Amino acid sequence: MTLKTSRRSDIPMFRALDILRDANERAAKGEDIKRLEAGLPCFGVPQAVLDYAKEVIDRDPRQTYTEALGIALVRDRIALYYRDHYGVDFHYSRVAITAGSSGGLSMAFLSAFDVGDKVGICTPTYPPYRNMINSLNLQVVEIQTTAETNYQPTVNLIEQCGEKLDGLVICSPSNPSGTMLSESELEKICNWCEANNVRLISDEAYHNITYEEPAQTAAKFNKDAIVLNTFSKYFAMTGWRLGWMVVPEELTDRIKRLSENYFVSPPTISQHLAYKVFDHMDVLDTYVAYYKKNLDIIKSELPKAGFDKLSNAKGAFYVYADVGHMTNDCEEFCHRIISEAGVAMTPGLDFDMIRGHTSVRICYADDTDDIIEACRRLQEWQK
Ligand SMILES: Cc1ncc(COP(=O)(O)O)c(C=O)c1O
Repeated sequence: MTLKTSRRSDIPMFRALDILRDANERAAKGEDIKRLEAGLPCFGVPQAVLDYAKEVIDRDPRQTYTEALGIALVRDRIALYYRDHYGVDFHYSRVAITAGSSGGLSMAFLSAFDVGDKVGICTPTYPPYRNMINSLNLQVVEIQTTAETNYQPTVNLIEQCGEKLDGLVICSPSNPSGTMLSESELEKICNWCEANNVRLISDEAYHNITYEEPAQTAAKFNKDAIVLNTFSKYFAMTGWRLGWMVVPEELTDRIKRLSENYFVSPPTISQHLAYKVFDHMDVLDTYVAYYKKNLDIIKSELPKAGFDKLSNAKGAFYVYADVGHMTNDCEEFCHRIISEAGVAMTPGLDFDMIRGHTSVRICYADDTDDIIEACRRLQEWQK
């Protein structure tokens, strides 16, 4: 007899990881694959921060648990960052350090919603929102954004979804499109959520990786919002698995209890690195300049390969391409491109299960020479 398995864990795979596996297997066999699929920086944490980590380990090789919400000094450092960077002032008791922002997302949903509650997500979207919400037996409400709304929600679109929402997830700059909400649109959405008793969850994972206007935090406009951020992207600490949340007063104790029970505490050594990394933002800003150069190459070279319907990316390190004129089956399309052109990219179905079959996501956080070569190969492939 086979034992029961849960329905809640029967969630879709992360297609980006499927292509990533394919690309890894091909690379292991000696194929030269240009990587436009993975969503992580090509840089590591600045050397001075690594040196500091060594000092910390030498001083205290034991590295025990920390408090469930993280080391007070590091939480205070994050609060200071909000004061300096966004002009938003709050006590560090509202900061929770998390095991990546993925750990933060699950605690955000658990702390704010009960089974059956309706949570809006804006498609194309970061797929784990949908999958986490479903696995917690909450209801996903899809708000379909388009190129015309810059792949971001508007108050009109949210109202048109026709459901009484309990929560709404936004992400600006966006994964997968790299597009951003303007500060005024963000403020409108924040105010609308407040007026309609909707708990806003603002995923600010790509803040600081912006090329024109800086991104503003939802914490400035909505005191009830849960704001998520991560050390994985701008701070280039991906594998150190650390993120943070800014939470409203009434949720801090719940988040603490969830963190104690689910995670005990966020990774200790990573918190020490995080404390130090704020002193090296000048280095991190050079990484952003590098991504910007790559984006300029993508914008000028990809249209020559037929990828001419690109999202108006102004941040993160992605563009979302409408490839409906080239395929109706993005998965087959991506597999064909990797085997015929040696270029890996992510099928849009990952981000939009209804309309994504005619889209792909392109990540340009890789080495510039590889980006140039990937574009050249795609141009050749299209001939
Ligand atoms: C929009 C968004 N949010 C959250 C995450 C999770 O990041 P992490 O768990 O590494 O902090 C990612 C990772 O790609 C992301 O793209």
